[in-house]
Amino acid sequence: MDPYRLPTHVLPTRYDLRLEPDLASSRFAGAVTIAIKVLQPTSEIVLNAAELEISEAILAREEDSQSARIALEETTERCRLAFDRPIPKGTYSLRLVFQGTLNDKLRGFYRSKYKDAAGQEHWLAATQFEATDARRAFPCWDEPAFKAVFASTLLIDAALTAVSNTGVLADYAEGNKKVVRFADSIPMSTYLVAFVVGELEATEPVYVGRTPVRVWSVPGKRQLAAFGQQIAAFSLKMYEDYYGVPYPSDKLDLLAIPDFAAGAMENLGAITFRETALLVDEKTATHAELERVADVVAHENAHMWFGDLVTMSWWNGLWLNEAFATVLEMVAVDAWKPEWQRWTTFGVSRAAALVVDGLQSTRPIEYPVAAPRDADAMFDVLTYEKGASVLRMLEQHIGPEVFREGIRQYLRKHAYGNTETADLWSALGAAAAQSVAEMMDGWVFQPGYPLASARVEKEGRLSVTQQPFAYLPRTKETAAPQRWQVPIQIRIHSKGSTTTQRLLLNDAEATLDLPEGFECAVLNEAGHGFYRVHYAPELLERLLKLLPNGLAAIERFNLVNDSWAAVLAGLMPLTEYLELTTRFKMERDKNVWAVLIGSFAALNRVIDASDRPAFERLIRDRLQAAFAAVGTPRPGENELTKQLRGELARGLGMLGNDEAVQRQAAAWYAEQTQAPAAADPDLTAAAVAILAHAGDRSRYDEFLGRFRAATTPQDEQRYLHALTAFRVPELLAETLPRTLNGEFRTQDVPHVIRSLLHSVHGREIAWGFVKQRWDELARAVPATGLKRLCEGVIGLATPELERDVRDFFRTRNIQLGGKLVEQYLEQLHIVVQMREREGEALRAYLSVT
Ligand code: BES
Ligand code: ZN
Repeated sequence: MDPYRLPTHVLPTRYDLRLEPDLASSRFAGAVTIAIKVLQPTSEIVLNAAELEISEAILAREEDSQSARIALEETTERCRLAFDRPIPKGTYSLRLVFQGTLNDKLRGFYRSKYKDAAGQEHWLAATQFEATDARRAFPCWDEPAFKAVFASTLLIDAALTAVSNTGVLADYAEGNKKVVRFADSIPMSTYLVAFVVGELEATEPVYVGRTPVRVWSVPGKRQLAAFGQQIAAFSLKMYEDYYGVPYPSDKLDLLAIPDFAAGAMENLGAITFRETALLVDEKTATHAELERVADVVAHENAHMWFGDLVTMSWWNGLWLNEAFATVLEMVAVDAWKPEWQRWTTFGVSRAAALVVDGLQSTRPIEYPVAAPRDADAMFDVLTYEKGASVLRMLEQHIGPEVFREGIRQYLRKHAYGNTETADLWSALGAAAAQSVAEMMDGWVFQPGYPLASARVEKEGRLSVTQQPFAYLPRTKETAAPQRWQVPIQIRIHSKGSTTTQRLLLNDAEATLDLPEGFECAVLNEAGHGFYRVHYAPELLERLLKLLPNGLAAIERFNLVNDSWAAVLAGLMPLTEYLELTTRFKMERDKNVWAVLIGSFAALNRVIDASDRPAFERLIRDRLQAAFAAVGTPRPGENELTKQLRGELARGLGMLGNDEAVQRQAAAWYAEQTQAPAAADPDLTAAAVAILAHAGDRSRYDEFLGRFRAATTPQDEQRYLHALTAFRVPELLAETLPRTLNGEFRTQDVPHVIRSLLHSVHGREIAWGFVKQRWDELARAVPATGLKRLCEGVIGLATPELERDVRDFFRTRNIQLGGKLVEQYLEQLHIVVQMREREGEALRAYLSVT
């Protein structure tokens, strides 16, 4: 018997919940009447509760009632109700009275602080229940499969507003308080229940059919809501069409919460966001900042069906929620702004999953979950990005219309219910008239992915083989070699024509006949496959002749990305990779540049300080031509060009330490201060980062002031992050204590520390700080954030630091759930090994260029 799971002989069907939060005392009182079905006679009822004081538990049926002895189990977060008289089968109502604290840990029922324009502090109360924190707000059956109807009533200060999942049925005064009664919800999981109470302000609703869509924020931010509201309305409508199922609730509110642990949360009808993910000023935001808002809103809206209407049975199947929402997020944003080329940028997400999934310490997408900490650990790139990648690969394999038809059947069949992965395969398989499970189980239940190697055999044939990709030699080679069913799409270029061939590679090897006049072959055409490609040297040479325009942007992206992975895995010499980068000097795609610059940033963390000037020269050599070619902003140009210009400027001004670009950044920044309305946001944002990199104390103080005075969430983040980008150790040492003295929000602290750990100028001080103040950090930062923070150790890429990190994690017995610690340590080890392997060759290479 798993101590974390609830017995299933008692089922809740309805919660009548009454909560009374008091912002002044940070306490809440509550009472809940739960309609239950007892399926087997029992004398005990077990449900979840944590950090609650339960004063009363009474079971009633008609005239009969009895009260229970209440025992709280702290470690398993359960509450046992023992009854003297046995309870026969039947339906009952269970009434519980309780109290709790509005905590500062951004989970359960918590409080969040903000300042108004006059600098006055205010509080609001909000909830964050996923994965397992509804039990901190009210006693409940806190597992996704125990779906029930929620009917909530809030008792609040008369001056405040309350928002929950459903519309307001009644709203009246009671003494000096206000009672707000909400409509019944659909049957849903506890983790989707939400309450927000405060001085909230809403936009006018936009109607999608009969559904009003509103954006909420703390007072004074309504002017930042339009962009988020537009994508919310657009995606809601698009999903109703795509899913062929109406929106499953009566209204849709999107709420920006000043303190928020994750990016956003898909509470049915009351989606909560951190402010940066919902509120934005379109005129001053960068492309990346706008894309972030569109992504997050579209993602959470997709969950209203995938996750909320149909829910995974248990957290091992979390990918059914998250991978799907991630795919649909792309579909919606792509339909909304095709010029953003969202599917090409998805390559960045796929690449992130390929990194973690190439580790020995990876895990399959579906993975056992027992304790709450393991459920939290499931929210990672394997669930989201690998999950989304393999779904996209399947969608392209069976065709988008067939795929959509399968999804429609799945949603109709399982509405208001819970599912397993096999249910999805059977719906998609029915639509596709083929076994989907056969191909897909290998991607979902096996860890890792294949490396497809291509070479030309003598007799004019192309050979493609598969083997598992691994950065480090694999420790436990299993007897049966690991295989996947790999849908491989190949484009063959020959004199005068190109053809596409599809093949499902099941075995270790497949061969294709090559046509007369064969020129070259592109594996993973269009880039949808979740695998890497290795070309034999001769094939690679042929392929490079197609640059720049004979390969699609995503194909160039994958080529660079797979080559860089090959360097880290010891399959390609670093100097060969650095030569390859010379072929991309005229590259114009921002994602291809993102991989190139990303690999340079990683190298910057492993080179010796004495080599840095030569390395900076190399960066300037690779980037300058493209930056010059992109030129200055032109009216009406594509947003992606703006982003590219900003990225190249950053790369040159920071990694390349290019003084001309630094001077230019100063000029952009000055212009922006003079005439903010005329400024190009991507240039302003790049300028802030570059000026921090090149900056001194006065710049630091200026940016600190700008951070404090910021009027948009994006501006605030921009200046906050600038405080981590300086090179002067004394200034970085001033940033660190601000993470614990209340100057920065705890939601932002992990990101600040992580970026300092990634900085070659800040990492040693930051690591010293983390070690010294670990206990305080672990107490202050929410669990999701602690994972982010620890991810920073991958930047500590010297053998000495690596040893120190290992010792620290071991002696302090740091556990982040799942395999996160192992994954971070392994990633660190891979870069340190690369440094040992390639260091000398790199130094020689730099000395002659
Ligand atoms: N369901 C998650 C929110 C969540 C994340 C809850 C982690 C508990 C732990 C939500 O749908 C989500 O995925 N949010 C993402 C943003 C999204 C655009 C990928 C997030 O919070 O980062
Ligand atoms: Zn999600």
